[in-house]
Amino acid sequence: MSDLTFNKYAGAVLATAFVIAGLVQLSGGVFSEEKVTKPGFVVAVQEETGAGPAAPEVPPDWGTVLKTADVSAGQATFAKCQSCHNADSGGPNGTGPNLWGVVGRAPGSHAGFAYSDGMKAFAAKQPVWDYQHIYEFVKGPQAYIQGTKMTFVGLKQPEDRINVIAFLRDHGGTLPIPAPNPAAAAAPAAAPAADAKPDAAAKPDAAKPDAAKPGAEAPKADAAKTPPTK
Ligand code: HEC
Repeated sequence: MSDLTFNKYAGAVLATAFVIAGLVQLSGGVFSEEKVTKPGFVVAVQEETGAGPAAPEVPPDWGTVLKTADVSAGQATFAKCQSCHNADSGGPNGTGPNLWGVVGRAPGSHAGFAYSDGMKAFAAKQPVWDYQHIYEFVKGPQAYIQGTKMTFVGLKQPEDRINVIAFLRDHGGTLPIPAPNPAAAAAPAAAPAADAKPDAAAKPDAAKPDAAKPGAEAPKADAAKTPPTK
């Protein structure tokens, strides 16, 4: 290859390079990038955090559920609490207070534990840890008591909470199991427990199959609101 031929090829290669470089520059102006304001796309998912004003849960009829609660399942569930809580008599405080006898104990009252201001404020309103209050607290501690130090996500399943409460009750609990009140359990929306007279619940006709069925089978708001005729 003579020098001249070489120069010709080299020139051609160089010129091509310039053209390509020029095109790259130009195309930047032609195809302007569209600014992305929202990364990705929005998928509407309902969060299940337990925070916020969720529909109120029907309170369990403690006189009924505690009699059939599975204490050993509750013990298994308590494994989730054990990193912070001991439930033995005279056991130590950990990240959380010792829970021996917590069922029936005043909130925020265990000796030697530095409770949060949130728990102290709760204790000022609520004199005793009864079944229902533990049930609601353990569902989502931080949603239930603002400022609590109990950084635990919560037990969402009602039966997990019932079983763990039965386990805690077996560990020094001082509250009796209340009398069953099947009428309130069968028609939960009809009568808040306070309205239901205990002697009405004890009467056999309160537990009549036809009286109990509509509420038990289909807890429809309409059906439940209609007061039992007898
Ligand atoms: C990450 C640690 C942690 C876990 C896990 C945890 N707790 Fe707690 N718990 C605490 C702390 C801390 C407190 C004290 C809260 C305060 O002072 O605000 C507490 C308080 C309590 C109280 C009130 C005690 C009292 O003396 O007033 C109960 C009841 C309770 N926990 C039950 C449970 C149960 C049941 C579980 C398991 C399902 C559980 N906790 C899991 C840390 C924890």
